[in-house]
Amino acid sequence: MHKKRIFSGVQPTGNLHLGNYLGAIKNFVDLQNKFECIYCVVDLHAITNRQNPEELKTNILETIASFIASGLDVEKNIIFNQASVAAHSELAWIINCVARIGWMNRMTQFKEKAGLNKENASVGLLVYPNLMAADILIYKATHVPVGEDQKQHLELTRDIAKKFNNDFNCESFFPIVEPLIPKKISRVMSLRDGKKKMSKSDKSDYSRINLKDDKDLIDQKIKKAKTDTAPIPSTVIELKNRHEAANLISIYASINSIDIDQVLNEFGGKNFSTLKNKLSESIVEQICPIGKEVKKLLKEQSYLNDILAKGAKKASLIATDNLKEIYEIVGLKKFT
Ligand code: TRP
Repeated sequence: MHKKRIFSGVQPTGNLHLGNYLGAIKNFVDLQNKFECIYCVVDLHAITNRQNPEELKTNILETIASFIASGLDVEKNIIFNQASVAAHSELAWIINCVARIGWMNRMTQFKEKAGLNKENASVGLLVYPNLMAADILIYKATHVPVGEDQKQHLELTRDIAKKFNNDFNCESFFPIVEPLIPKKISRVMSLRDGKKKMSKSDKSDYSRINLKDDKDLIDQKIKKAKTDTAPIPSTVIELKNRHEAANLISIYASINSIDIDQVLNEFGGKNFSTLKNKLSESIVEQICPIGKEVKKLLKEQSYLNDILAKGAKKASLIATDNLKEIYEIVGLKKFT
């Protein structure tokens, strides 16, 4: 049996928003007291799309700052950036040789991101899921908190682990990971269109709440958030096909750590302005202190660098040991 260990990664996109917070970081914080947790800023994944090098540097620090500002304990957890631990890339190469091209071609995220011109996408974008599998397997992590959209990548990670264990006759060497998908909100949607994911690349800033938004802006954005004309329903079934309503209700449940049913109990039959006022209040209460702390931390670069260096050291200890075993299994050896 493998020891329970959590691993998750967040891309350094910069300008983190409520979707990143509720979909990932808030869960990381909830898990930190229960398990051994490893949280990584996946900068190598970010370069599967073209990045501005200066912006990338800042975005890595901003993501780490957001982790810390949200309440992740830097002593209790291992917090680091992917590029600092070479074993991720080294295992990713081995996984490139285990996973099949057909598996990659089936990944819906690749199809979405590559768009119509698949031939012109980077090779890195195609093998992105293999690097993700390497991130997880290099620590023999057993549980991975992610949003609903990453479920297929985790299924692939399981297939890769099974094939490796089978090909190299090392039964249960790699654990078969379990996704931990938040129940209250599997994905946070745009405030302008309840069918689209909240995203930093949406042209309208009113589609999202950024962690660095101030109170006035948050109030305005929630006030303007799209709804429909019917009152708030009292049952979950009635939320079907009411995407914008469902989104605001899920956000409220998630940010207050209560169940959807409780929210419907409280607001069922009322109009949206009542919910919106309360929602604004909750978001301001939780997000504004985080945004302020992020801004403050970004001025303390040497503190952030220090945390990243310490995290990298701790992560490397585990990853290097595991890589040694993996090399041995595959028949490779580093002569040093
Ligand atoms: N692909 C994930 C995302 O876009 C980020 C990621 C990279 C990740 N490596 C990971 C998540 C390992 C969980 C575990 O959200």
